[in-house]
Amino acid sequence: MQTALKVQNLKVRVGGKEILKGVNLELNYGEIHAVMGPNGSGKSTLAYTIMGREGYEIVEGDILFDGVSIKNLPADERALRGLFLGFQEPPSIPGVRFSTFLIAVINKRMGAPDLTTLKDPKKLREIYNLLNEVGLNRSVLSRELNVGFSGGEKKRSEMLQALLLDPKVIILDEPDSGLDVDGVRKIAEIIKELKAKGKAILLITHYARLFNFVEPDKVTVLVDGKVAATGGPELAHMIEEKGYQVVRQQ
Ligand SMILES: Nc1ncnc2c1ncn2[C@@H]1O[C@H](COP(=O)(O)OP(=O)(O)O)[C@@H](O)[C@H]1O
Ligand SMILES: [Mg+2]
Repeated sequence: MQTALKVQNLKVRVGGKEILKGVNLELNYGEIHAVMGPNGSGKSTLAYTIMGREGYEIVEGDILFDGVSIKNLPADERALRGLFLGFQEPPSIPGVRFSTFLIAVINKRMGAPDLTTLKDPKKLREIYNLLNEVGLNRSVLSRELNVGFSGGEKKRSEMLQALLLDPKVIILDEPDSGLDVDGVRKIAEIIKELKAKGKAILLITHYARLFNFVEPDKVTVLVDGKVAATGGPELAHMIEEKGYQVVRQQ
């Protein structure tokens, strides 16, 4: 399988504090690679650093995307090259309608200078179909992005964006948090669909409920900014059963 993303000995400082302390990880196309770990272990920091969020300072190591270092690229350039992050807590953007936001990102990706009117009208049909698929009502399009959205609506909207924008690498930071069991099942179905399309999926989660519906190919466990264990789905199930003490003791 072809390697999509390679994280090499990554050391990252945030707010003057070293949070990631030498993380190694490889993500292939067509693969679901789960990153697990207790609260505060550095999972979201890893996601933000891969995406290029400001304030996440790489003090050592590198991030290769399709074999090329991206660590000096701004976040928007990484997105244009095919990286996507579904946020743990999707930000609200008052004053910007969901539809306006979607049109801007679609056009930007197509290289259209005008970010306000949909360049490709076929995309509207696609948006409607995807709303249906992720289980969102069309009325969300006229609402301000994430303003007053329920936890579940925010997560579904992130999945819609992952499907619509057709990125190569999809990082999902706790995509199941705040969802009821039907919501979790739906998210799992979409993740499987993305895998079948050959996407490289980095699936961050602190507990293994999601794995009852979608099996990861690989599991990396972070504890205190370091890789504490690696394995297959059996590692996720062991953690679900016994807690993180199993890797802390290794
Ligand atoms: N902006 C920041 N300034 C200082 N410390 C931070 C900042 N953001 C996160 N941290 C710390 O980094 C650690 C890892 O956080 P995070 O990556 O969010 O963990 P996880 O997603 O695994 O729960 C935590 O101890 C957290 O308090
Ligand atoms: Mg987190």
